[in-house]
Amino acid sequence: MTLRTLESLGDLAGKRVFVRCDFNVPLSDGAITDDGRVRAALPTLTALLDAGAKVITSSHLGRPKGEPDPQFSLAPVATRLSELLDRPVAFATDTVGSSAAETVDALEDGQIAVLENLRFNAGETSKDAAERRAFAERIAAFADAMVSDGFGVVHRKQASVYELAELLPSAAGSLVAHEVGVLNGLLEAPESPYTVVLGGSKVSDKLGVIDSLLPRVDKLLIGGGMVFTFLAAQGHAIGKSLVEADQLDTARAYIARAAERGVELILPTDIVVASGFSADAEHEVAPADAFEGTRFGADGMGLDIGPDSARAFADAIRGSRTVFWNGPMGVFEFPAFADGTRAVAQALTEVDGLSVVGGGDSAAAARTLGFADDRFGHVSTGGGASLEFLEGKKLPGLEVLGWQ
Ligand code: 3PG
Repeated sequence: MTLRTLESLGDLAGKRVFVRCDFNVPLSDGAITDDGRVRAALPTLTALLDAGAKVITSSHLGRPKGEPDPQFSLAPVATRLSELLDRPVAFATDTVGSSAAETVDALEDGQIAVLENLRFNAGETSKDAAERRAFAERIAAFADAMVSDGFGVVHRKQASVYELAELLPSAAGSLVAHEVGVLNGLLEAPESPYTVVLGGSKVSDKLGVIDSLLPRVDKLLIGGGMVFTFLAAQGHAIGKSLVEADQLDTARAYIARAAERGVELILPTDIVVASGFSADAEHEVAPADAFEGTRFGADGMGLDIGPDSARAFADAIRGSRTVFWNGPMGVFEFPAFADGTRAVAQALTEVDGLSVVGGGDSAAAARTLGFADDRFGHVSTGGGASLEFLEGKKLPGLEVLGWQ
């Protein structure tokens, strides 16, 4: 089964359409520091406005506790959306209360309003299906149709993602449809050579995706904090580096499975070892298997893959026709430890084929290091959602739109 698309909703001129977006953007002192998710919502919103719909949109932002919390207000998003759309955007100061009702009532065809953070209402994330449904019914009262375009949240069974899509005629927006198309391609028909690059701090966060992708890929590159669990599993000393002691057997099993399946598992051969976890920590490069030979001895902490490894990773990536990358190679937030991540991002921009950056940390890392989204084949807007999709899990927010 495929996703129901916008076309399935018919002529939307004059109709009130609720668009569930993922406007969960990073904020600093109330200002949006990365508006990627707001930009990603524009194609669907513009298409609906051009079609003459009355567009009502909203999202979650952060994890408020089911009641209003000003630090998580969507007001800055409404302002940014208005700048990007270059038209007025009305803003309701509640989710389904009197402000929302008045704001929706005042909409003319081709106008748009943002309702306040959906998680200001406990019904949105309730574990109780009846409570979620009751909240979804209140949102549904504002609209004639629902468009689901918050890809980053489709793995959540939450009122505005799931129950609302059951209550109203509903369809996927173009962002959700595009994300699903690209990510499904990584599972169904990836062109070879196919390389997956995984980083980030924990192996335990990536178990599902390794299990799902190992049978499909030609090369698996591992960097970031999780690499030290692999090095420790191979019996190497890793000083004070991050390690998940309870995942050593898992790491060994992956090394064995990769060998059995003929997957080239590439681990770093050198590491940038630092005196501690700080931006200005002293550091030097050491072989991955002689880590404690640095002047920091057993106190050394690996904070990035080394230059030889960065080159080897980049070569493997550039020589591939399909690449999926999730997780930074080091502590990219500190410039001294960003080179490995930069090399991987750069190599992805040079792939002759499809390069996909997983959402969350990897997308943030790429943008922080100055790589615009359009230099990659696709940058997912979903962190957890893209991983769960690639793990082959059933995502409630997609199933309710007809995806199986
Ligand atoms: C994300 O940032 O991954 C999505 O917006 C989902 O947010 P959540 O993890 O708070 O549900």
